[in-house]
Amino acid sequence: MRLTILGGGGFRVPLVYGALLGDRGEGRVTEVVLHDLDDRRLSAIARVLREQAAGVPDAPAVTATTDLDEALRGADFVFSAIRVGGLQGRADDERVALAEGVLGQETVGAGGIAYGLRTVPVAVGIARRVARLAPDAWVINFTNPAGLVTEAMSRHLGDRVIGICDSPVGLGRRIARVLGVDPREAFVDYAGLNHLGWVRGLRVAGRDVLPRLLADPALLGSFEEGRLFGADWLRSLGAIPNEYLHYYYFNRETVRAYQEVEQTRGAFLRDQQARFYAEASDPGTAALAAWDRTRAEREATYMAENRETAGAGEREEEDLSGGYEKVALALMRAIARDERATLVLNVRNRGTLSALDGEAVVEVPCLVDASGAHPLAAEPLPGHAAGLVCAVKAVEREVLAAAESGSRATAVKAFALHPLVDSVTVARRLVDGYTAVHPGLAYLT
Ligand code: G6P
Ligand code: MN
Repeated sequence: MRLTILGGGGFRVPLVYGALLGDRGEGRVTEVVLHDLDDRRLSAIARVLREQAAGVPDAPAVTATTDLDEALRGADFVFSAIRVGGLQGRADDERVALAEGVLGQETVGAGGIAYGLRTVPVAVGIARRVARLAPDAWVINFTNPAGLVTEAMSRHLGDRVIGICDSPVGLGRRIARVLGVDPREAFVDYAGLNHLGWVRGLRVAGRDVLPRLLADPALLGSFEEGRLFGADWLRSLGAIPNEYLHYYYFNRETVRAYQEVEQTRGAFLRDQQARFYAEASDPGTAALAAWDRTRAEREATYMAENRETAGAGEREEEDLSGGYEKVALALMRAIARDERATLVLNVRNRGTLSALDGEAVVEVPCLVDASGAHPLAAEPLPGHAAGLVCAVKAVEREVLAAAESGSRATAVKAFALHPLVDSVTVARRLVDGYTAVHPGLAYLT
């Protein structure tokens, strides 16, 4: 079984490789092909993987290449985890938006639109190459903004592309933990778009135990999302939102907090990773130890500004290893070995959420087996959630249309229609600001 990782020089590749090393089962991945545009990043990550594999019998063989076609030929699975424009691009996305007084997060609001506009054309290029060179491969998309990018790729790959995110899994696990339920026994009734979903229920043996959590302020205060959103607001909603909804429900506070920080998340990660790649390229340093230190610091500081505005304190120990690699591995195993699994994934809607059309990529629980990921029937979203989901999907569609046509006016429309962009004038200035800093947006005319 061959797995190709696009963005193979990326920082989180060792997480995936670590999960593969722990998989001893029949039909496991035996070959990993790393693809990246940057040779230096590839060799740094390859060094980390070599140190991880030391002493592990039958560790998957690793090769690296900068040639996309070579990487794709013969692949059974393709993970796409690329970052168009690099972390400097992410920092620029944040800076331009914050200067206009709107959010610059990489997946939410203006920042997510800018990132989507430069990523979609590249993702579509990859999807076309996959369709041509590895038509039977399954593509697992990690690339953010994950829902939008998965939808762009699905237009060329159909249901062979599946988007993943670890946020819903983490949320489901935390809710199960505070309720004293085994997460493996619980069905998480989660629905929405990527980074825009809600847990409406947690069913154990057919019974919904979420009302018990919503009724108990002490329990609500004992986990990340409870502290982030506050017990009162969660009771008003009657659901537990994905952590990224903090940017919507507390927009003013998060924008202000982001404006006041010394360094935005993207700028922090840019500098942090520059240090790591320099260290890992030095033959005198232990690459795996440097990687692990960097990873721990990244996880501890995740969403720090949001937690600070909410007075939510530090992250909990159990929440620090996100589960990113576990979702990916579970998905691959379910497909490769026909092991039925229920996972929250980004797939085409096909009537699951009544508010959206069939082609819209949504984030919902799916039954996965050798024939792919099939969304399970879901209750309609409540009005307020359906409204937000439809508004954001409409924005995503404008991003896809702008990427296809190269129309600057359509790009303006995408920004202007976003619920977190408060004026058409601001949308115009955002397009000016972003096209001025991003060479990857030169196609907008
Ligand atoms: C969560 C999100 C991902 C994101 C990751 C890292 O897991 O679901 O989409 O890539 O956090 O966030 P960071 O700010 O550390 O890049
Ligand atoms: Mn995510």
